[in-house]
Amino acid sequence: MIVALDGPAASGKGTLARRLAEAFDLAYLDTGSLYRATGVATLRAGGDPAQEFDAVSAAKTLDLTLFSSADLRTEEAGVAASQVAFIPGVRAALLDFQRNFAKNPPDGKTGAVLDGRDIGTVVCPDADVKIFVEASLETRVARRVKELQEKGENIIEARVRADMKARDDRDKDRSVAPLVPAGDAWILDTSDLDADQAFAQAKAYILSKTRR
Ligand code: C5P
Repeated sequence: MIVALDGPAASGKGTLARRLAEAFDLAYLDTGSLYRATGVATLRAGGDPAQEFDAVSAAKTLDLTLFSSADLRTEEAGVAASQVAFIPGVRAALLDFQRNFAKNPPDGKTGAVLDGRDIGTVVCPDADVKIFVEASLETRVARRVKELQEKGENIIEARVRADMKARDDRDKDRSVAPLVPAGDAWILDTSDLDADQAFAQAKAYILSKTRR
């Protein structure tokens, strides 16, 4: 079983994806980490994440040990990720890894949950279940501010809002694999739901789709 979970930044899809993977005993891939790692690797090499040559070189030589680095979870990494994600050559370089994970999930699992922006539309268009997770900009900003504060980051709310809006616009407006729900995706708006409620609704939806 392949579950594709897409949606904008801080919509709650990461937490939801992790919980669904556990509940259904599936492997989990946070595809945003691939773009974040590419963005961070580009910066570490002294490159510019908005420059095709710099970003594609980083994507092609991605060091998978970077995945566990705390540097990936900063706002700076999120912005760099959305810049490299805009470049078609970067997306092409990361596609095989994602498809291969879905086709051959690790640890003997029989399926996978992938979360990102284009899983249901590009990476796994034949996924058994597609969920598009949404939430209002204000809700998402509030969540991200709380998350960053809990990590002890010194943040300015207006800056977080501006970065998120710029990231949303870049993700929605790019020519390749823009952030858009697949035609057959179920829309889950988490603006007024806590993590438990979102999980309960998504789980019920998956069971309704997969039970005969
Ligand atoms: O999900 P996360 O916020 O970690 O993703 C960081 C950035 O990576 C997104 O803003 C988006 O630009 C890019 N991304 C993407 N396609 C994916 C996953 C992430 O373009 N499948």
